[in-house]
Amino acid sequence: MSNTILVVDDEESIRVSLEAALTDEETQVRTASSGVEALRILDSDLVDLVLLDQKLKESEEDGIEVLREIRSRHREIVAIIMTAYGRIDSAVEAIKLGAFQYLTKPVDLDHLKVIISSALSTAHLQRHVDTLQQDVDNLMSPTDVFGPSRKTQELLERVELAASSPTSTVLIRGETGVGKELVARQIHRSSPVAKGPFVDFNCSAVPENLIESELFGHEKGAFTDAKGVKRGLFEMADRGSLFLDEIGEMPMPMQAKLLRVLETKSFRKLGSTVDCRVQVRVIAATNKDLFEEVQKGAFREDLYYRLDVIPIDVPPLRERPEDIPALAEIFVERFSRDLRRSTRKISDGAMEILRSYAWPGNVRELKNMIERLVLLTQSTEILPEHLPASLSGSRRRRTEIEEPRLLFAGEELLTLEEVERAAIVHTLERLKGNKTKAAEVLGISRQTLRSKIRDGDGGGE
Ligand SMILES: Nc1ncnc2c1ncn2[C@@H]1O[C@H](COP(=O)(O)OP(=O)(O)OP(=O)(O)O)[C@@H](O)[C@H]1O
Ligand SMILES: [Mg+2]
Repeated sequence: MSNTILVVDDEESIRVSLEAALTDEETQVRTASSGVEALRILDSDLVDLVLLDQKLKESEEDGIEVLREIRSRHREIVAIIMTAYGRIDSAVEAIKLGAFQYLTKPVDLDHLKVIISSALSTAHLQRHVDTLQQDVDNLMSPTDVFGPSRKTQELLERVELAASSPTSTVLIRGETGVGKELVARQIHRSSPVAKGPFVDFNCSAVPENLIESELFGHEKGAFTDAKGVKRGLFEMADRGSLFLDEIGEMPMPMQAKLLRVLETKSFRKLGSTVDCRVQVRVIAATNKDLFEEVQKGAFREDLYYRLDVIPIDVPPLRERPEDIPALAEIFVERFSRDLRRSTRKISDGAMEILRSYAWPGNVRELKNMIERLVLLTQSTEILPEHLPASLSGSRRRRTEIEEPRLLFAGEELLTLEEVERAAIVHTLERLKGNKTKAAEVLGISRQTLRSKIRDGDGGGE
């Protein structure tokens, strides 16, 4: 494991001697003579530990303030404060700000090395704990794309295919809530760059004039508000994946710049004169029909083809109804555990209603609804009457009769199919979704009833 230490001291002799003393095969030492310079280095390079002088006389900076700034921008960096004037109150302040140690000068080199090595191992441990915590969180709420339907299984095959060619751009398409982001994360996780960063950016969430500096970063003073150097997301995603969500919302001028990066694998920070090379796999997602956007002139055709190297379509939930019960069960289990509820299962009747609903908000809507049900249902089983009325209501099609009892009361004449449908809906409602009983009452087999319900739903597989 190699480490980078940044020595911040206004006295050149100290910088030079510490650099010489601390550099070895595993340790690289950088130096800065002021807080401003230190922050610039921290913003642009990866540093593990900062050795910071408390009185930066030359630049008239207070080390404690510099420490505060470092901690607010880079929480993961460990800092050790050195001072010529050991004062209890500043020591307390430094430790409160998260400094690892507070040392008085002259610093004994052997002592310093011991402290540095223990600070670094604490930092590594902390990082390790953070990743473990993430793994635990993931175990608690699995984040893999899940679903037994043929369509989801095919989707997973595409995901693996995309993952295995880590330089090609992927374009994920699908309605809202179908799991586009989940797919993007899974592509990253299954790819050779899984250990690298996954950086995500929502093109519609950032004002147009800030997108460029978000993506590419900027030099100090590149524009009025550019106070320091900023690392862009492309740089942060180096050797990893950059997820550009809602790519259809990317403004035209930025589309041209993005195309250039995709083609040259390099970009220029705002206010900089040199190109930065990066190795980033771009995964884009959209719920718009990008091809249509191209036709309308709202999306660049060349960028469209550049992105569309591996297209992945995530089908809407209603086109893979077999996934609904499986997902619903998983969500019930997960939310019952998280919310400490005793809800155990979804009754057959309720499940049938979930299954035949059209889910315009897709998996997200299903997930949110199950969370609400688990939270609000007192019994251990979720029954049809626990479901919101809108669920059974909206599954009816326009041709369906709103009030089956008034079937022949109006002017309108009906087809046999509509009458049959009305009879089924009416019976199921009266019997609280119990299909076995409903089939009995209607004088057909459960199998036939099932297929009639499915046929009536439109868009089934
Ligand atoms: N196949 C799946 N298995 C388990 N959970 C899923 C699945 N698909 C989606 N989800 C869950 O549904 C929610 C919505 O998914 P996600 O955010 O990936 O959708 P999206 O397509 O990016 O939506 P939007 O277009 O609104 O951004 C998330 O909580 C996600 O974990
Ligand atoms: Mg999304």
